[in-house]
Amino acid sequence: MKAARIHAHGGPEVIRIDDVPIPSGDTLIKVAATSYNPTELAVRAGMFRIDLPHTLGWDLAGEVDGDPVIGFVDSGAAAEFATAPADRIVPAPKNIPLHHAAAIPLAGLTAYQVVQDVEAGQRVLINGAGGGIGSFAVQLAKHKGAHVIATASPRGIDSVQRYGADEIIDYTKQVPTKPADVMIHLVGTPPPWTPPAPEVITAAAQFPGARHIVMRYSEDHLSTLVSLVEAGVITVDVTESYPLAAMAEVHRKGEAAAFHGKVTIVMP
Ligand SMILES: NC(=O)c1ccc[n+]([C@@H]2O[C@H](COP(=O)([O-])OP(=O)(O)OC[C@H]3O[C@@H](n4cnc5c(N)ncnc54)[C@H](OP(=O)(O)O)[C@@H]3O)[C@@H](O)[C@H]2O)c1
Repeated sequence: MKAARIHAHGGPEVIRIDDVPIPSGDTLIKVAATSYNPTELAVRAGMFRIDLPHTLGWDLAGEVDGDPVIGFVDSGAAAEFATAPADRIVPAPKNIPLHHAAAIPLAGLTAYQVVQDVEAGQRVLINGAGGGIGSFAVQLAKHKGAHVIATASPRGIDSVQRYGADEIIDYTKQVPTKPADVMIHLVGTPPPWTPPAPEVITAAAQFPGARHIVMRYSEDHLSTLVSLVEAGVITVDVTESYPLAAMAEVHRKGEAAAFHGKVTIVMP
């Protein structure tokens, strides 16, 4: 089978499409698609301790014995087959194309967990709403009944509006100043302005006064996300798709911040 692997740390050029044996153990998934997550740029570059060679890919959508599933694995989703413990996969949403559903696990779970304590009526500032996690976070916060103030650049404004944000701030022109109850930060650098909220949660850059949340996989949370997609509460937008062979190009574009929203990588 084909797999996108790295044998050494470095730039996107270290990514190779290798022919490797189909993995064994746990549940075998025939992968339809994985998704691009920017944190994997840091894995490739060597900022985390991993064994090499390493097969890329955390999110997957595929089939187990013909049944469509989505899941989250520690590595190995950027391949034609992957294995996962049974609790790492759940039935895929029935109302969207399977390869789009690969966009859900990491971004959806992170968004689910950063908005977990948001309450109806709160004013929630989501900084970085135009990104993959942001797309889920805006919709989930709205579903909880919050008043959502979202920052996005012009390329993200339409989608953030569609997800139901009540106020949109073009971060290329303005900084958020209106008071909020909670700020959720989804940008890789700290805000160069004072958060206008007493409670600040970050899933991205850490900075003084912000509570950092790291996504913890939860089968229950992933199943809930699937139900919300099937109920039409969450729309899953895939802004671009690439074949597995183009994984190095996906990393190059990711490093150039050329994407907004979720990007999927489809198996041959
Ligand atoms: N804690 C965790 O467990 C966890 C899990 C996954 C990811 N992360 C981290 O969370 C962050 C977001 O991930 P993601 O997958 O959503 O990334 P992404 O899809 O690349 O989105 C990043 C978005 O940030 C927006 N942005 C860039 N500069 C901005 C600024 N100055 N002000 C406001 N928005 C800005 C851009 O929006 P526009 O398109 O509108 O310009 C971009 O689309 C990354 O740093 C990632 O490493 C953390």
